[in-house]
Amino acid sequence: MKEKVEKLLETKKAIELGGGEKRIEKQHEKKKLTARERINLLLDEDSFIEMDAFVKHRCTNFGMENTEAAADGVVTGYGTVEGRLVFVYAQDFTVLGGSLGEMHAAKICKVQEMALKMGAPIVGINDSGGARIQEGVDALSGYGKIFYRNTLASGVIPQISVIMGPCAGGAVYSPALTDFIFMVDKTSQMFITGPQVIKTVTGEDVTQEELGGANTHNKISGVAHFIDKTEEECIQRIRTLLGYLPSNNLETSPIYECIDNINRVDESLNELVPVNPNKPYDMKEIVKLLADDGEFFEVQPYYAENIITGYIRLNGKTIGVVGNQPKVLAGCLDINASDKAGRFIRTCDAFNIPLLNLVDVPGFLPGTDQEYGGIIRHGAKMLYAYSEATVPKVTLIVRKAYGGAYLAMCSKDLGADQVFAWPNAEIAVMGPDGAANIIFKNDIKNSSNPIETRHEKIEEYRDTVANPYIAAQRGFVDDVIVPSITRPRLISAFDMLESKRETNPSKKHGNLPV
Ligand code: HXC
Repeated sequence: MKEKVEKLLETKKAIELGGGEKRIEKQHEKKKLTARERINLLLDEDSFIEMDAFVKHRCTNFGMENTEAAADGVVTGYGTVEGRLVFVYAQDFTVLGGSLGEMHAAKICKVQEMALKMGAPIVGINDSGGARIQEGVDALSGYGKIFYRNTLASGVIPQISVIMGPCAGGAVYSPALTDFIFMVDKTSQMFITGPQVIKTVTGEDVTQEELGGANTHNKISGVAHFIDKTEEECIQRIRTLLGYLPSNNLETSPIYECIDNINRVDESLNELVPVNPNKPYDMKEIVKLLADDGEFFEVQPYYAENIITGYIRLNGKTIGVVGNQPKVLAGCLDINASDKAGRFIRTCDAFNIPLLNLVDVPGFLPGTDQEYGGIIRHGAKMLYAYSEATVPKVTLIVRKAYGGAYLAMCSKDLGADQVFAWPNAEIAVMGPDGAANIIFKNDIKNSSNPIETRHEKIEEYRDTVANPYIAAQRGFVDDVIVPSITRPRLISAFDMLESKRETNPSKKHGNLPV
């Protein structure tokens, strides 16, 4: 027995070395950690339990029968994050470039299935040359099986993808099917076709980094949600995100002890929004003043910055925040903002996270780019996502709420459970400037002083229509509140809504405009 135990330990040790010391060194030289180092950083100390370390590939093409591939290039198993069960897989680039073959895929599928059965989040760390070239269609089939399981698990357990190396070709579609994508600056890339193919087909010259680096996907394409400078920072951010999420769709997020004052009255909120309605300010300042301990965990902070999305805690409970950002494009909704918010709202609803909507929106962004790009169907995503969301929905109109964008930011009619407005709120069909030009066109044209008359008419429209009281008279706004008391009012509203139960009509699935 003793010999057998020794042999077992030796074998395990060899497997743990992955592709060997030289390749590990190479990985470190590239400022990348190994698969096991990443897992150990992600999970609570000593909590990782590995599965399937002995799995071997079955390929005999191109001399592969003589090729040893420790753990078949992917480390899989489970452990805990802040004491909560999490499943994990990490591709090992030191073993055949982390390439994915039949058995490598089978290992990933196994942890996907276990995570789904156990109702626990899964974190997939991608660092791979893609489909294992020697295995051909078996490798492709492996990807297909992973995509299928990603889709079945969607909306049931949180699925987090981490890109810590190359992720090319069809391999990108597993991350794309998951809830959140994390990338690391300079060392991770995602693309469907690489620079060489692009050069051949379109003649464009582009580097890997420009094409599919972390900056590209965080700022331009919106494919990724987070960017960090180092792998260590990235992994810490994943741990933080998991703290905001429930383990599955039948649970609620963990409740943290709230040390911050839940009755905090903040006089600075009374002054934060400029009197001049055209002057910008930073909506994130409002979010931080409302949140427990001023903490805002922003999601997609560099994409479509005209809308902000992220998580805060109110009285220790996770709340998803969607807010217009007057600092960027005056807070207008456009195609990218609609996509970003629509997706975020659905993620919150899937995982029982109540929504707080902070409104200061002059409308949808005008222009042929927007119309030709399909702002109609993209904007519709927000209306759809808010309407179908059954989680508690609280809307606060901070300043402007105009036209379709007023509705798209979760008005009463889209099912907001509570709508509050600050006294300076302007709720109307369109901005006073545009409205005066239309309905007072003749008064302005016939006036001896058209500029002054126009100005007077704009003010008249603002005083008469663009205020929160008409909406409050109709019950579209539940209360007009003093800004300084917003935090206690929101906490009270979400407490009241905690027992909300709402179900939509039974159907196979809806048909979200895409
Ligand atoms: C088998 C692979 C491999 C692959 C890398 N390796 N990719 N083995 N299949 N797909 C092996 C290499 O042979 C090498 O083995 C080791 O991994 C490290 O690779 P290097 O090339 O030395 O590393 P590096 O210089 O860092 O370059 C990394 C790389 C490059 C850019 C990823 O390896 C590369 O271009 N690989 C091919 C990428 C690709 O085209 N994949 C198919 C994508 S399409 P040794 O023994 O020397 O250490 C796809 C379709 C999926 O995936 C479809 C799903 C629907």
